[in-house]
Amino acid sequence: MGTSLLPRCCCRNQTIRQILKTDAKMVTIRWVILLALLSAFGTIYLAIAFDFQVTYDVKSVPSSVQPDYMKEEVSFDPVTQLDFTETGERLLAANGPRKLFLFAYMHGGSTLLFKLFDQDPRTFAWYETLGPLYGHMYGLPGYRLHTWIIANTSKEHEHHYFPREVTDYEITRINQLFKDMFSCNFESLPTEVFTDAFIGFSEAFRDYFHCYLQTKTKPKDVTWNRHCVDSTINPYCGYETPKQDQPKPFVVDAQKNSCPEYLEKARVLLANRTQANITKILEESYFKRKMQAFLDNEICLQNLYESAKHCMLRCSLLERCQKAEIQVTKILRLKLPFMEPVIRAIPDMQIIYYTRDPRAIAASRLGVNGPNIPLKFVSVVTKLCEEMQSDVAAMEEFEERYPNIFLRLRYEDLVEQPDESVKLLFGHIAMDPTRVAYEWIHDSLHGDSNKGVQRTNGTYIVNKWKSKYDKVDIDTASGDVKCRDVLQKFGYV
Ligand SMILES: *[C@@H]1O[C@H](CO)[C@@H](O)[C@H](O)[C@H]1NC(C)=O
Ligand SMILES: *[C@@H]1O[C@H](CO)[C@@H](O)[C@H](O)[C@H]1NC(C)=O
Ligand SMILES: *[C@@H]1O[C@H](CO)[C@@H](O)[C@H](O)[C@H]1NC(C)=O
Ligand SMILES: *[C@@H]1O[C@H](CO)[C@@H](O)[C@H](O)[C@H]1NC(C)=O
Repeated sequence: MGTSLLPRCCCRNQTIRQILKTDAKMVTIRWVILLALLSAFGTIYLAIAFDFQVTYDVKSVPSSVQPDYMKEEVSFDPVTQLDFTETGERLLAANGPRKLFLFAYMHGGSTLLFKLFDQDPRTFAWYETLGPLYGHMYGLPGYRLHTWIIANTSKEHEHHYFPREVTDYEITRINQLFKDMFSCNFESLPTEVFTDAFIGFSEAFRDYFHCYLQTKTKPKDVTWNRHCVDSTINPYCGYETPKQDQPKPFVVDAQKNSCPEYLEKARVLLANRTQANITKILEESYFKRKMQAFLDNEICLQNLYESAKHCMLRCSLLERCQKAEIQVTKILRLKLPFMEPVIRAIPDMQIIYYTRDPRAIAASRLGVNGPNIPLKFVSVVTKLCEEMQSDVAAMEEFEERYPNIFLRLRYEDLVEQPDESVKLLFGHIAMDPTRVAYEWIHDSLHGDSNKGVQRTNGTYIVNKWKSKYDKVDIDTASGDVKCRDVLQKFGYV
């Protein structure tokens, strides 16, 4: 194993710009991909051209028996509200890290909030780890967008927001994900968490990320776990942009095709790595091609994880995680109505419910420079209002049952009153913000005057979206019953 293949952990004090400069030749392409991801994060994303032609047959699915792990029950301790509050307070008073979940909306200014905590050296931040978990559980392709995870794909619900039922299996795994993140239980986390492009958004992972990008032990043309998936199991678990008759990237479709069972089978087989077993299984398997595809996927993932493990060690990632005083995660792919089990499983977790004017979010999702299509705008806004209404209803219920967990904050307030908001946010986890946090937010909002970036003011940032659409279209969207409710609740009208 040559050292040239396995880079050292380096660059602790380098900025991303410096890294780019130093290693321009080697990593340019990967950084381009990363930057594309940065700019494309959300509804628009680049189809990165990977020339994998998949030829596996798609057959109908055997009516397989659910393996035991799928039947795992989610059982609640019958804790009373009082017990719950006391547990939470006791844990908060203990010396463990603060645990914080940032609940936000895509294009809702959530990066600003995430980065505010992320820039604090006391923080270990996890960026959007639910996507990798859904890759792990269902083999979902691409960026595992939140609609693919939660949408009820019945035709009748096409034109409005209607989430599907989340299974007990998912809830169990989601609880475990949160617990493992917050307690730095790396070995129990899905390997995909460490081989996902999202991880690079976090400051705590920066050195690790750089090391990971440079390892040459990874399979050719494969950088992230989703590339493994794209070259093997798309015909079963869904394509990012499916053509006719191809499976769609939804959890329900992956379930129909027994993806969880096949993924697990491949993991078990390859964990033991007896060639005899694998050959035997393949010989006996009626769906030979399908099984082979899942094995190929798993082998690819395991190779990536080798790079990941190497870089974790080199960069002392575990130590860094264990030393952190604040554990924070931002996940846009989980909806509040499904969160009660997580709240109960981690009683000392605090949550920030972070909103932004749904009309501004819609304008941002449709692209500031995109075409102005009023009908589309109104439809995106009203769907979003339904989603927010459902989240808010759940939160109001939880606030009664689990007091002092939620802090509501509007993006608009963070932008227009940054100092007060920063104080409030850190106060919610019983920490003092650093002086740097205040400086950071001012620089982020108004540009650093030393670097010649033009100063803008908060009111301007918050209202910019209004210039894109006619007043009559904005009024149509605002007049929707559900929107009226949400807009009033958050003081947007
Ligand atoms: C989707 O909606 C339909 C009709 O409302 C319902 O019968 C079905 O159970 C839902 N599916 C899921 C997975 O929640
Ligand atoms: C793999 O190993 C585990 C534990 O080491 C065992 O429980 C399991 O049955 C083995 N699987 C196969 C297919 O041999
Ligand atoms: C795998 O191989 C081992 C030893 O060769 C054997 O004991 C075991 O039963 C095999 N497992 C399966 C699932 O075939
Ligand atoms: C901020 O921008 C708005 C709109 O561009 C303008 O009306 C207002 O005067 C500005 N405020 C300050 C303090 O510059």
